[in-house]
Amino acid sequence: MPHLKAKYWQKAHDPMLTKINLEEKFALFSELWSQKLVGQVNDMHVKLVKIQGEYVWHHHDHEDELFMVVQGRLLMKLRDGDVWVEPGEFLIVPHGVEHCPVAPEETHILLLEPATTTRGGNVDNERTAENLQPI
Ligand code: NI
Repeated sequence: MPHLKAKYWQKAHDPMLTKINLEEKFALFSELWSQKLVGQVNDMHVKLVKIQGEYVWHHHDHEDELFMVVQGRLLMKLRDGDVWVEPGEFLIVPHGVEHCPVAPEETHILLLEPATTTRGGNVDNERTAENLQPI
């Protein structure tokens, strides 16, 4: 077991292994619709975003997207009907499904999606393009 013990110690003391506090991270920025990178799980990005208002209808050919509401309320418009997502809830939009995120009030969201995902999906343009900033 000494091997496992050593590994455990390494993990517990590795300065690169730092936990993420969502409240602290959300306090670091105020721009709306600007995704911030806070982690990566294999090929999946973990991102935070603040939104208010309505985005554009789009879909992603290959990427599924997970939207978890931390604060506020997210109305995910879907062609088959709308879904309200409340704090503590998440919604997975499978690839190929058209969606349009709407937030009547400022809403804080954790996103989990492949690193290849672009914000606007099939309607990527100058408005939806951005450089993903780690925070
Ligand atoms: Ni999308």
